[in-house]
Amino acid sequence: MIGRRKEQGAGAALILAIASGILIFALLSACNVERRKSDAELGLNSQQAAGRKVYDHDCDRCHEAYSTRGKKGPGLKGMFQHKYLRLSGLPANDARVTDIIRLGRNEMPSFSQTLNQQQMEDLLAYLHTL
Ligand code: HEC
Repeated sequence: MIGRRKEQGAGAALILAIASGILIFALLSACNVERRKSDAELGLNSQQAAGRKVYDHDCDRCHEAYSTRGKKGPGLKGMFQHKYLRLSGLPANDARVTDIIRLGRNEMPSFSQTLNQQQMEDLLAYLHTL
């Protein structure tokens, strides 16, 4: 009788262990999807990493870097991978993108007073990695 109860207890413990294992695994994989990658994981060089800081400070609140999902502005994933920018249809090149950032566009503010030449170049280098 006592032995049987022990067995049942062990069975319940095993089920509990498996269930919590599954739960922990599910939580970890959910975190992984949203987890922010480090500069090294993204393979950024020092200029691109500097540009990422500018991006996080000035652009991230309105633009997703690693998704085409919109925030206040369109997601910028792959923005230089196509010939034209998704929303405005302007050519996806350094000159046009620099203009958009300097001058702003509709709801997007202008950054000509905020970013110096170096920050602009770093930012562009980073945008090319998206
Ligand atoms: C306050 C929100 C806001 C901030 C901050 C912002 N943007 Fe924008 N951005 C927008 C909106 C809104 C648009 C769409 C403008 C339009 O109507 O064409 C846009 C458009 C763009 C476009 C053109 C996209 C396309 O498909 O035509 C680029 C490129 C861009 N932003 C880059 C940046 C970068 C780089 C920064 C940081 C320096 C930044 N934006 C900061 C809101 C913002």
